[in-house]
Amino acid sequence: MPTSDFSSYDQLDPGALRHDDSYKWTKYAPDVLPFWIADMDFPVAPAIVAALHERLSRGLGYHQVGGDPTLKALLLGKLAADGLSGLEAQHISFLPGVVPGLYAAVLALTQPGDEVITFTPIYPPFLTAAGAAGRIAREVPLARTEQGYQLDWQALEQAVTPRSKLLMLCHPHNPTGRVWTADELSQLADFALRHNLYVVSDELHADLRYSDAIPYQPFATVNPALMPRVVMLTGPCKAYNTAGLGIGAMICSDTDVLRQLDSTLAGVSAPPSALSVTMWQAALRHGSPWLSDTVQYLQQNRDLVTEFMARRLPQVPYFAPQATYLAWLDLRGFAQADHMQQYLLEEAKIALNDGPTFGQGYQGFVRLNFATRRNLLQEGLDRLAAALRS
Ligand SMILES: Cc1ncc(COP(=O)(O)O)c(C=O)c1O
Repeated sequence: MPTSDFSSYDQLDPGALRHDDSYKWTKYAPDVLPFWIADMDFPVAPAIVAALHERLSRGLGYHQVGGDPTLKALLLGKLAADGLSGLEAQHISFLPGVVPGLYAAVLALTQPGDEVITFTPIYPPFLTAAGAAGRIAREVPLARTEQGYQLDWQALEQAVTPRSKLLMLCHPHNPTGRVWTADELSQLADFALRHNLYVVSDELHADLRYSDAIPYQPFATVNPALMPRVVMLTGPCKAYNTAGLGIGAMICSDTDVLRQLDSTLAGVSAPPSALSVTMWQAALRHGSPWLSDTVQYLQQNRDLVTEFMARRLPQVPYFAPQATYLAWLDLRGFAQADHMQQYLLEEAKIALNDGPTFGQGYQGFVRLNFATRRNLLQEGLDRLAAALRS
């Protein structure tokens, strides 16, 4: 199997990255360095490229539109290796991406006017999925403690009402990079059972865990009594940098629940493309050496950010992510906090994601994507610190 040359990550050419179809590199002016939308600047694993070439040597007629059995078998193997066993092909439904699964869960498992609970700051579609469907998003802010961001149990108990029907969990959590502990997950499962909630658990970032992360446990494994009410969402796009070939999966041990979710998408969504199926198969079959090398590179980038924050911006509350290539920066202490993202765009020429899109109360926060060439990251951090000094 061909392998990647990881020193090549240090040689990535910004001119080539700024190609016409890169949203990340073309949204802002050419003098802006992009650290916003969550994809990596790295090329796709050679094993995936080879599989796609091979697939293109054959016709592209209708493929297994009912859900590719080979991919299901590979995914079941991966889920079992992660600790989620006992499932069968009928417990998996494929999606054209993970976000449609968030929307489908809201539509299928709640009624208009019902409440959907989620922990903020949060990946914005968690909030828009509820709002777009006429449901009420109950935002429960994470607590910032000495140890990092934690679930706030008191706030959670205060937020839940008889209209609360669904809990949307992000595990690992975008944007804080938290991998939730077994104790936290177990307490959350008790809470969901007590309040008769469904849980959609988006575990898309799970394969981007660092060597010092606590063990990852899929939420569906935490409490057998809750398992039929848990819909897990996953996909290859974060770990393998394949967002341009959309595909995802929803997984639930209750086939009736899964059919309900499927029915919300019938006719308005399409099965994932043949190429995306081939891509995910190749990732699951051959991708892990590439992935572990890439995670190692990302971990060094993460450590660079951590060291930089401690040395150059020690006044900024910052907790290194245990997973994800995202860093959540609390810049509320600076004079420009009321327009921080715009200020950094104009003054530092760096594009970050703006805090308020992650929930109420996050003005002055920004999210930084560090999945890029290390010296570009270093330049971006230098620009950040310089702009915050002026
Ligand atoms: C937690 C989470 N879920 C879903 C997505 C998007 O997934 P997709 O592109 O497959 O819809 C992202 C992208 O950043 C994400 O961070």
